Amino acid sequence: MALVDEIEEIAKRRGFFWPSQEIYGGVSGFYDYGPLGALLKLNIEKLIRDHFLANGCMLLEAPVLTSLKPWVASGHVKGFADMLTECKECGEAYRADHLVEENLKIKTEGKKTDQIQRLIEKNKIKCPKCSGAPGEVYDYNLMFRSTIGPVKDKIEAALRPETAQTTYMDFKRLFEIGRKKLPLCVLQMGKSFRNEISPRKALVRMREFSQAEVQFFVHPKRKEWDLNGVKSMEASILTKQDQVKESKPKTMKISQLSKFCNSMIAYFLAQSLLLYKRMGIDAKKLRLRQHRDDERSFYSSDTWDVEFMSEKYGRIELVGIADRTDYDLKRHQELSKESMEITYEGEKFVPHVIEVAYGIDRPLLCILESCLEQDGDRIYFSFPAQIAPYQVAVFPLVNKDGLPEKAMEIFYSLRSEFSCLYDYSGSIGKLYYRQDEAGTFLCITVDYDTLKDDTVTIRDRDTKKQIRIKITELANIIRRLINQEVEFSDFDKSVK
Ligand code: GAP
Repeated sequence: MALVDEIEEIAKRRGFFWPSQEIYGGVSGFYDYGPLGALLKLNIEKLIRDHFLANGCMLLEAPVLTSLKPWVASGHVKGFADMLTECKECGEAYRADHLVEENLKIKTEGKKTDQIQRLIEKNKIKCPKCSGAPGEVYDYNLMFRSTIGPVKDKIEAALRPETAQTTYMDFKRLFEIGRKKLPLCVLQMGKSFRNEISPRKALVRMREFSQAEVQFFVHPKRKEWDLNGVKSMEASILTKQDQVKESKPKTMKISQLSKFCNSMIAYFLAQSLLLYKRMGIDAKKLRLRQHRDDERSFYSSDTWDVEFMSEKYGRIELVGIADRTDYDLKRHQELSKESMEITYEGEKFVPHVIEVAYGIDRPLLCILESCLEQDGDRIYFSFPAQIAPYQVAVFPLVNKDGLPEKAMEIFYSLRSEFSCLYDYSGSIGKLYYRQDEAGTFLCITVDYDTLKDDTVTIRDRDTKKQIRIKITELANIIRRLINQEVEFSDFDKSVK
């Protein structure tokens, strides 16, 4: 069995994530993040948030539960559906398109319910559970519906299936706050909910998940962005024409992408690749794929995904970048009767939106897959220091003779700057092993020499190399190792 096949087991054992509500048998599509997973997730969110804030983006936080009205406007009430079929014998529900794909090994994107129905009947596809016949294929709306308020005053409500609409509703106010400038960039991070028919593949298809969606409100005719700085980057690219011709992805420069999409989309595809690299996702497994005309959402004039080719889960969409035109703002204008029109540089128009829609949970799974390493019996995560749940762990060599007190003192001095942990429970070998399992970047050990000469050892997770450092230099050296300004091999005082 390949190591990657054990990823969910490893994630559970080490406290990254596990199925939610386990003691009651669990509910599929919901996951709990354990101590390490919750920290890793925070670090992914921080990387995305800091990147966009540093580039002039505004932050917005809106409720996850809303009245149904915005979703009527956006088209979700009518059209946000997957194809469902239930077994006539045992009642098991399936995504009908997935049932066909798995049985016939064909792609079904773009096919309608009646075409899927015919494929099931013609090929006599059976229920995988009881071999019964699947029933009629129909569109099943993926929104979680609810009501708000008591009986008499209750209003129809829904949990948001994306953050985007909750940003669009605030556009006019945000435009005022942003001093009426375009492009206006707004980032919203938070939970979204989809009542997926068959949630599966761990964090890939969840019913409650986290998003970080950036909305760029732009002039309809100015969707250009300066590609300097990213134009010579190379990526594996699959255009919609390639897919029609069934050609393979091609390695291209980002500058060549502007033949196939506007330069804003090209820029954010490149930025996303850079962000994923910083997260530790294996760049060789990433590709940029343009949606074909028959799969693209009705609101978009062009959509691209960054996809990760997982050894275990297959193709995973990590972020969707779409030119949503003025569709959403115009629909909210129509239904709310609030004008979304602005006056900008003497022109009146409803802005267009370029959306960069990041998921958070899927990249977390891809980071685990990309960073999972085996070195003999040792299984560890080679997380980049910026993303690792813990950057530094501090231990006493033994739990006596004043060593714990000294180690604690060092831990307290480091923890305001670094993500730090103190541990003392077990032999030094066990302590290292536990931190390798957690992907902790550096381990600091306080030993008897520390009490004599105020030095400690720093151990590198990936190479297991150790160096001896003065406590007074410790914070500076850790900082430089984390920022990759120095490497372990730059220090000569190695310790066996
Ligand atoms: N506002 C546009 C939008 O929501 P999307 O492609 O449906 O677009 C954006 O979602 C990202 O959210 C995806 O690329 C993925 O990373 C994440 N995502 C979507 N559905 C998900 C699910 N059921 N479970 C986990 N992540 C999901």
